[in-house]
Amino acid sequence: MKKLGILLSGRGSNFEAIADNVAAGRIPAEIAVVISNRPSARGLEVARQRGLNAVCIPSKGMEREAYDRLVVAELRKREVDLVCLAGFMRLLSPYFIREFPLKILNIHPSLLPAFPGLDAQHQAWEHGVKISGCTVHFVDEHLDAGPIIVQAAVPVLNDDTPETLAARILKEEHRIYSEAINIVLSGKFHLEGRRVVFDD
Ligand code: GRF
Repeated sequence: MKKLGILLSGRGSNFEAIADNVAAGRIPAEIAVVISNRPSARGLEVARQRGLNAVCIPSKGMEREAYDRLVVAELRKREVDLVCLAGFMRLLSPYFIREFPLKILNIHPSLLPAFPGLDAQHQAWEHGVKISGCTVHFVDEHLDAGPIIVQAAVPVLNDDTPETLAARILKEEHRIYSEAINIVLSGKFHLEGRRVVFDD
């Protein structure tokens, strides 16, 4: 059984969607550990309630690579195969990326490369795009930038606020993150440049 490590900083709804699919047997893996850099993260509490290994490694005041070494050590200890960033509000160091090549995924609430960074749903709404969505991608050392695995489009409606748009995007996030995890776990893909090509 492959082992997932989830990294989060807050609410943890993407983590919960993944955990539901794991529990229902729709993802052939187990969640080996949930790590938060913030002690108050709701996702950490949810992980504990679900009986999962929930570990807080506070990042405050720590230098990036020194912090990442602690996180990688925890992931290694739990023998994690695939790292899923789920609202983890930190850039990873080149060290971390090298330790898990093509084994770190992230979800972002826009159709990348549009609107990277914070508050992507608000950025898209303010820009006036008619279609936004979400993206699951491999993580490299740049912000929201690695090869794209799955995207879902979400229309922006006339009467949307950033909040209503974000809520509809979030539903799609919960669906496509598990889809992307299954693709990566299956190993049935290869990279052509930065294009992720599925093998069947
Ligand atoms: C999501 O919108 C995700 O796309 C972004 O951060 C948010 C995390 O939400 N990276 P949650 O903690 O999974 O509920």
